[in-house]
Amino acid sequence: MPLYNAYLILLLLYFSVDYVQPSTVKDEHQFDLLIFTQFWPATVCTEWKEKSPAHSCAMPTRPDSWSIHGIWPTRLGTREPSFCNRTWHFDPEQIQPIEPVMLQVWPNIEAETSTYALWSHEWTKHGTCAAVLEPLNSELKYFSQGIDWLEKYNMLDILKIANIVPTKEKEYPIIDINNAIVKELGVRPQIECNKVDGKNQIFEIRLCFNKSLELTDCDGVKYFGEYNSVLTNCDPSQDIYYPHNEGEPKRLYVQLYKLISWLQWFTL
Ligand SMILES: *[C@@H]1O[C@H](CO)[C@@H](O)[C@H](O)[C@H]1NC(C)=O
Ligand SMILES: *[C@@H]1O[C@H](CO)[C@@H](O)[C@H](O)[C@H]1NC(C)=O
Repeated sequence: MPLYNAYLILLLLYFSVDYVQPSTVKDEHQFDLLIFTQFWPATVCTEWKEKSPAHSCAMPTRPDSWSIHGIWPTRLGTREPSFCNRTWHFDPEQIQPIEPVMLQVWPNIEAETSTYALWSHEWTKHGTCAAVLEPLNSELKYFSQGIDWLEKYNMLDILKIANIVPTKEKEYPIIDINNAIVKELGVRPQIECNKVDGKNQIFEIRLCFNKSLELTDCDGVKYFGEYNSVLTNCDPSQDIYYPHNEGEPKRLYVQLYKLISWLQWFTL
C-alpha cells in the first residue's frame, strides 16, 4: 500500500508540473520539431486509385520528381499539434506569386479534388501551428519554405548519389536508403512505405528541423517503429520498390476527358 501511495503522489506531481508551465503559446499548440515530408507521386497515386475505381491521378509534370506533402510542427511522442487557428483560412491569393512553382513541386495528385485541396489542408492543419515561428508566419512564408527545402534536400538527387534510382528492375534494402540520406545530410530521416501488390513501395521520406529551421534527427517522432536503427514502418523482411512515376493524363486532360464523357452521356 505505501508503495502504491508513493506512485499516486508521483503521478499527481507529474501532471501538476505539466499543467503549471507558463507559456505564451497554448500548451496544446506547443511543438518541438518541424517534419518536412516529401512523397513519391507513384505511391500517392496508387493509394488514391485504391480508394475508388473512379479515381485518377494528376501526376507532376516533371518526370520522376519527389513532391511536397507538407511541413508539420510536431511535439515529440505525439502527432500534435494541429488546427491551431481555425479562423485562419487558406487564401489562394496569398500565394499567387509562387503558384506556378507550387503546381510543379507541391501538386495535388488526387485529380478528382480541387487544385487547392492539398494546400488548404496543409495550411489549416499544420501551417496555422507553424505560424508561431517568425520565418513561417504567413501562407507565403510557409509554402515558400517548403519549396526551398525541396530544392535543397530533393530525395531524387540525394538517393541518386548512392545509385538509388527509380527502376522496375530491382529493389533496395531499407538500410541502403536510410544510409544514403544519413551520409549526405548527417541526420536520421523517417522512411514510410506502403504495400502495393504485396510489395514494400517507397511512399514518404521525412526530414526533421528544429525551431531554428536547422536539420536534426527525427528520433522521438511519433508513429514509426525502428528497425536496425532505421526509423521506418517498412516491412523489414522485404526490400523496397522505387518505381518510376508513370505518365498519367495531366489535370487539364482529365478535366477535358470528364467533360467529354459527360457531354456524351448527356447527348445519348
Ligand atoms: C488567427 O487567425 C486570424 C486570421 O489570420 C488572426 O487575425 C488571429 O490573430 C489569429 N489568432 C491567433 C490566436 O493567432
Ligand atoms: C537548432 O540546431 C542548431 C544546430 O544544431 C543549433 O545551433 C540551434 O541552437 C538549434 N535551435 C533550437 C531552437 O534548438
